[in-house]
Amino acid sequence: MSIIFNSEKQIFLLNTPSSTYVIKIHSGKYLLHGGWFKRISHWTDNCSLPLVDYVMSPVPADLHDIEDFSLDSQQQEFPVSGRGDFRTGAIEIQTADGTCTLDLRYDSHKIFKGKPNIEGLPSTYVENDEQADTLEINLYDELCGILVTLSYTVWNSYDAICRHVIVKNTGSGKGKYEGKKIIIKKVMSCSMDFSTSRYKMMTLMGAATRERHPVIRDVVQGIQSVESRRTMSSHQQNPFMALLSYDSTETTGEVFGFSLVYSGNFTALAEADQFHITRAQIGINPYNFSWTLEKGEKFFSPEVVMVYSSNGLNAMSQTYHAIYNNNLVRGTWKNKERPILINNWEATYFNFTPQKIFEIADVAKKVGVEMFVLDDGWFGNRNDDRSSLGDWYVNKTKLPEGLLAISEGIKKRGMKFGLWVEPEMISPDSDLYRAHPDWCLHIDGRDKTLGRHQLVLDLSRDDVVDYLTETLSNVFSSADISYVKWDFNRSPTEVGSATLSPERQMETSHRYVLGLYKLLENLVTRFPQILFESCSSGGGRFDPAMFYYMPQCWTSDNTDALSRLFIQDGTSVVYPPSFMTAHVSAVPNHQVGRITSLSMRGHVAMRGILGYELDLTKMTEEEIAEIAEQVSFYKKIRRTMQFGKTYRLESTWSKTSSAEYTKFCAWQSVSEDEKQIVLTVAWLYPESNVPPEIIRLQSLDENAFYQAAYSTGESKKFSGAELMYAGIPIKFLASYGGSVLVEFQKIN
Ligand code: DGJ
Repeated sequence: MSIIFNSEKQIFLLNTPSSTYVIKIHSGKYLLHGGWFKRISHWTDNCSLPLVDYVMSPVPADLHDIEDFSLDSQQQEFPVSGRGDFRTGAIEIQTADGTCTLDLRYDSHKIFKGKPNIEGLPSTYVENDEQADTLEINLYDELCGILVTLSYTVWNSYDAICRHVIVKNTGSGKGKYEGKKIIIKKVMSCSMDFSTSRYKMMTLMGAATRERHPVIRDVVQGIQSVESRRTMSSHQQNPFMALLSYDSTETTGEVFGFSLVYSGNFTALAEADQFHITRAQIGINPYNFSWTLEKGEKFFSPEVVMVYSSNGLNAMSQTYHAIYNNNLVRGTWKNKERPILINNWEATYFNFTPQKIFEIADVAKKVGVEMFVLDDGWFGNRNDDRSSLGDWYVNKTKLPEGLLAISEGIKKRGMKFGLWVEPEMISPDSDLYRAHPDWCLHIDGRDKTLGRHQLVLDLSRDDVVDYLTETLSNVFSSADISYVKWDFNRSPTEVGSATLSPERQMETSHRYVLGLYKLLENLVTRFPQILFESCSSGGGRFDPAMFYYMPQCWTSDNTDALSRLFIQDGTSVVYPPSFMTAHVSAVPNHQVGRITSLSMRGHVAMRGILGYELDLTKMTEEEIAEIAEQVSFYKKIRRTMQFGKTYRLESTWSKTSSAEYTKFCAWQSVSEDEKQIVLTVAWLYPESNVPPEIIRLQSLDENAFYQAAYSTGESKKFSGAELMYAGIPIKFLASYGGSVLVEFQKIN
């Protein structure tokens, strides 16, 4: 068992392979946090923060005799506000008397093998009960009858602990509280108090077409936080935060990651207090949120996946990659190599005919592409983005013979067929809107804000979810559809629902997310063979929860190779390459106007799931030959690139004291059997007359030899020790087109 309860000391030790997480019950009542460290086999409890009688620190009435005990100066496990801890509380509930002060005391606990599912929410799962152990601690507010269960799943093969919280209104409060409803105003998925504030906080921020750029800032007294208020996880901030020790790099130092399995409004914060304790929290954003619990009802928070590394950031990333590939993604496509596709969006936008589709498909087939994806514009009267979302029947003017004829035509060419949909949206100019004007999110009497000329369907309603399940099932069965790209192109506004009472309107946003999960669950169950790819104007919903249903995501609408280096590098902090679709597109690039070489566009896209998104019929013979080579080479390295271990040897955000050394980034991917290694080096901006970069590979067999084949045509042999300790010189030459890829094969 990786969870130990020492009843004499009243301490829980949660042991992952290389870490120990400590929880303490103080005076039989208060749940305190003891720290999360590199694994400690013998915990004497003498390293806990001492009880100190600080100036101005209030003492709970029942512990008045222990004068130096103050909730305000302790590391707490799940803090409440209003009883002496003036920092950010983890939970806020309005009780029958209208106040929000809780008194949550330790009540009981349970330790068991395996991991429970979370009702209505996606979460990581165990394949058998031996993979993890779970601790549930019950905290109880006697006066109001509120039971809070803290759930901790400790993994046996990952340095990861998954937490979530269940709130139950037992109805057994005392006197005027008995049987009364309660209103949850805030509940975090976790709260963790670190004994020092000597940390940096890392988050992934950006915008549409500039997603997930890492930002690292000092933790200082006060609150530093990121959030989404968009009813989607968002392009702007990812539901992730890490605390990094001052000395941390990609390979050194302590790192604590917090990744929330949720697709709606979230908040993540680090609060350093007056005594330098740092409180980390992540969970549903209290903004525009409340949840009423009647007697006997429960509320489930989303899961947070917390990862520990004592070997820097890259090790944390590798743990996330493994747990998300193996214990989050489900179904047919789990750990399965993904097809190389051609998507017609940047080739034709809305302007296509069956003939054009087949012309592109003919060339795609010739170069070895495996699937054709028909993007936006195939339905209703859709010829631009002003109409038809909701009318999921074929656009007969554009495709007179229907979808089946297209899918059959693609199949005849030996490729699979995929289709774009944007099911959560409704255009005011659509038959669906004319029939059901109240099916969109809206607030009675207020104007409806449009985004890309569209509104958002109210997925908090069961009738809407049921309608979409049936409508989409019809579409997905109307032709031989192997893949679906599920888009979501605006953030909801006027987040209110026609079916909820005024008291419950602030539940709409979370109910929307729950409705989305229900819809997705219905569809992935009905169509287990379909490969679903999520998308939200690129990577606006690139969060762990979506991968529970859809194993890959369109990383960004920015397809420029250089911009993608930053985006994909930042994304890899939490998410594996098997989640990131990446397409070679035309030059000048449609988003940034930059011209990059075809080889660099290929190399960068190969760091994720390679695809193409350009008009192949307009390319020269040489370019087509180069693409054919890329495709056949990628097929040789695909498994390693998608599912191998990723090392960021030089990341896009690494800093050195001299600008001379910040011009390239390098990734190493190692196959599961460690026999194939692929090194990608790409220059962030090219420079003339520069010396070679010396790249040291990692985690090879130092006594083995590796045969290297360079994209530049060279071939050389190295020992593992040479590659790791001396390093391989890679020189920038304009003729290499901005990047070099080296494939190594272990030869003994
Ligand atoms: C936004 C997506 O990110 C694009 O790839 C494309 O599918 C368009 N939507 C279509 O409207």
